[in-house]
Amino acid sequence: MKVGRNNLCPCGSGKKFKKCCMKNQQVENPVSVKELYYKNHNIRIKNKAEIDGIRESGKLVMETHKIVEKEIRPGITTDFINEIVHEHTLANRGICAPLNYRGFPKSVCTSVNSVICHGIPGPYVLQDGDIINVDITTILDGYYADANYTYFVGTPSEDAKKIVSIAKESLRLGLNEVKTGNRVGNIGYAIQKYAEAEGCSVVREFIGHGIGINFHEQPNIPHYGNKTDGVQLIPGMIFTVEPMINLGKKELHILDDDWTAMTDDGSLSAQFEQTVVVTSTGYESLTPFDL
Ligand code: MF3
Ligand code: CO
Ligand code: CO
Repeated sequence: MKVGRNNLCPCGSGKKFKKCCMKNQQVENPVSVKELYYKNHNIRIKNKAEIDGIRESGKLVMETHKIVEKEIRPGITTDFINEIVHEHTLANRGICAPLNYRGFPKSVCTSVNSVICHGIPGPYVLQDGDIINVDITTILDGYYADANYTYFVGTPSEDAKKIVSIAKESLRLGLNEVKTGNRVGNIGYAIQKYAEAEGCSVVREFIGHGIGINFHEQPNIPHYGNKTDGVQLIPGMIFTVEPMINLGKKELHILDDDWTAMTDDGSLSAQFEQTVVVTSTGYESLTPFDL
């Protein structure tokens, strides 16, 4: 791997390459950056075969989203969405990662209106004007990919249009910061700055995460914070960015089912999520959709 001037020095000093071994023409005691990230941060940098596997899993996630999108309308239950996701995933050799994950009882998360995330599919009938975040995580050949999208049910209210637009733009601006040499903190900083300037709030309790070999890996990707927070991004890092943005205040509570997260003030909440791999020039989305 070619080391850029502003990247971490491969000798493991923690300094920038230009401030360290670059001066000596040669790296003293080279250790691979990959080993270093695993040892110091528990971050698994993925190789080509792993990236290819996660990309295939991501294709199935997005194919499933396309099918869900066609079925979203007033009158269907969130259980029906669960059924579609479950059937399509299994029909394509996949496994639904949420099912039985830490006791989660269903195959997908369906979060309606003031539900922020981790909504459990059930008998609720979607109403005209609802918004629903469908969060699909698939395991294919052992590889995980994770993406969510907030859909309009029927005709959206002005509030619904606003929060969905701001949540989507938050993801776009966050992903815009994903490039080698930037830090994890650049992502959250960009998101928080934008969402708060729009008068909305950023949820703190749930964050993006490394993914691929397991559902939730290092690094943590907060959707708030400072540019100087966290590790430097390097090629082969795979993680999600998934900002949860509330129209009102950021505070939340969890229902008695131990999963459903709702805004305290009852305001609408929306979320978009993609799984991305850092490349030498920026990133590649492994669960791409238009932003
Ligand atoms: N897919 C969610 C995420 O983006 C996690 C859901 S955990 C579950 O990280 F158990 F609710 F499925
Ligand atoms: Co996720
Ligand atoms: Co998810």
